[in-house]
Amino acid sequence: MNRQRTLIWLLLLFLLLSACSSGATRPTSPTADGERLFAIWCSGCHALDPAAPVALGPTMAGVATRAAANTDGLSPEAWLRRELLQPNAVISPGYNAGLMPSSYAESLRPEQIDALISFMLTLE
Ligand code: HEC
Repeated sequence: MNRQRTLIWLLLLFLLLSACSSGATRPTSPTADGERLFAIWCSGCHALDPAAPVALGPTMAGVATRAAANTDGLSPEAWLRRELLQPNAVISPGYNAGLMPSSYAESLRPEQIDALISFMLTLE
C-alpha cells in the first residue's frame, strides 16, 4: 500500500515536472513530439534499443517493420493505432495481456496519439 502511494506521488511529481518543461522545448514536428511523449508515457515498459534487457512490453526497435508485416490486413498506421488504443485486441507473442493501459484513447489528445504513431513509424 505504502509502496503504491509512493509510486503515485512519484508519478504526479514526474507529470508536474514534464508539464513545466514542455513549454520550454517546443516540438519541431509530430515525430519529435511523439518521441518526447514516448519517453514520458511508454518508455517505462518499452525499450527503444533492440539489445535492451527484456522489459514488461516488447522493444519498439523494429516496430514499424512489424506493423508493415501485419497479417490483419491493416495499414501500418492502423495497426499501430489499434495496438496503442486497444492493447488487448491482439496480444504480442510472448507477452502478457492486461499490462498495457487501455486508457490512452481518453488520456491522450488525438494529436498526441497521431504524434506517437508518427514516431513509431520511424522505428524500422
Ligand atoms: C505498463 C506497461 C506498458 C506501458 C506503460 C505501455 N505499454 Fe505498450 N505494451 C505493453 C505490453 C505488456 C505489450 C504486449 C502485450 C500486448 O499486446 O498488449 C505492449 C504492446 C505494445 C505494442 C505492440 C508491439 C508489438 O511489437 O507487438 C505497441 C505498438 C505499444 N505497446 C505501444 C505503446 C505506446 C505507444 C505506449 C505509450 C503511450 C505504451 N505502449 C505504453 C506494456 C505497456
